[in-house]
Amino acid sequence: MASLNIPVDILPLDGRFGAGPSKVRAEQIDHLVENQDILGTSHRQAPVKDLVGRVRTGLAEFFGLPEGYEVAIGNGGSTAFWDVLAASLIERRSAHLSFGEFGAKCVTSATTPWLEAPHVVKTEPGTVGSFEPVAGVDVYAWPHNETSTGASAPVTRVQGADEGALMVVDATSAAGGIQMDPHEFDVYYFAPQKNFASDGGLWFALLSPAAIARVEKIAASDRHIPPFFSLQSALENSRLNQTLNTPAIATLLLMEAQVELMNELGGLTSCAKATTHNSNLLYSWAESHELLSPFVAQPEHRSPVIVTLDVDPRVDATALTKILRENGVVDTEPYRKLGRNQIRIATFVGISTADVERLISSIDYVLAHLLAQASR
Ligand SMILES: Cc1ncc(COP(=O)(O)O)c(C=O)c1O
Repeated sequence: MASLNIPVDILPLDGRFGAGPSKVRAEQIDHLVENQDILGTSHRQAPVKDLVGRVRTGLAEFFGLPEGYEVAIGNGGSTAFWDVLAASLIERRSAHLSFGEFGAKCVTSATTPWLEAPHVVKTEPGTVGSFEPVAGVDVYAWPHNETSTGASAPVTRVQGADEGALMVVDATSAAGGIQMDPHEFDVYYFAPQKNFASDGGLWFALLSPAAIARVEKIAASDRHIPPFFSLQSALENSRLNQTLNTPAIATLLLMEAQVELMNELGGLTSCAKATTHNSNLLYSWAESHELLSPFVAQPEHRSPVIVTLDVDPRVDATALTKILRENGVVDTEPYRKLGRNQIRIATFVGISTADVERLISSIDYVLAHLLAQASR
């Protein structure tokens, strides 16, 4: 029994609003079932290799990749890619924007015995810092979307950086849902469990010709690179539509269905428009609400895909998310380590406007109940 029943006519039809793993659409599960014959078959044979190939070309089309850019794929999710970055892309020293948990984790991975200590621009959660060029830095790294706070940083090359310095963007939760221009990055990496609505465990990296040249240069040097973190090896396998080691074939099928849909919707520009619309519904509702306010103060840094809203101290956000969960509306809790009286709502590409509108009505309903309870 829920402690408060939200009326069915205002409940979202699908209650999954988590920041990842995120809602998987029913049509993706249908795709999985329709293609079940290739589940449990060799990833070195044509049926799975063709699937990998379709995902890679689908992504290149979706992002409108310029001539010479390549799509690499590997196992281990974005967390593994942080170590790939340290082993295969940073030559001597990296610089980072760190404004939340995930940006900070990337810094930790880039702090190694074979690299100089990273240059770090650290700012408070909810804000976004900016780079000054630093002599001797050959990789600038930052998250496009900091999933722990809902702050989004633009993808733009650092002006005045050393010649050949690479722009490396953690797009784990941004990719597919936030507009960007591929000419502005050298590496744009992400995992499938956010806008691509699949399971976790893989990483994808869009690589510019300059990034590929760097990978080749470091691979040819005397640096010891563990095979799992060798981007050269991942790239060679990717060109053959394979992975270094066994991938999750089911995840690739879920991904294929979502990439297909996102291309049918019109590619990145259309998808980014949809997430902007849905997140703006939440931001403007919160701005005029007596109990809610957007956590990210600067409107231009408010994420179109991860909406974080502070809740007035008169109401316990934990009680709110608990009632939502009891009613089947899940994963609206804030990032665990942020420790704020807050809710966090994903507006990834697969989440409908109608469900965002219903979520707003549901939260209003619960907030009215909790406020009345508090003032008794
Ligand atoms: C911005 C960002 N980077 C990296 C990660 C880590 O991704 P994974 O769980 O695929 O290793 C996440 C996970 O939520 C994330 O949001």
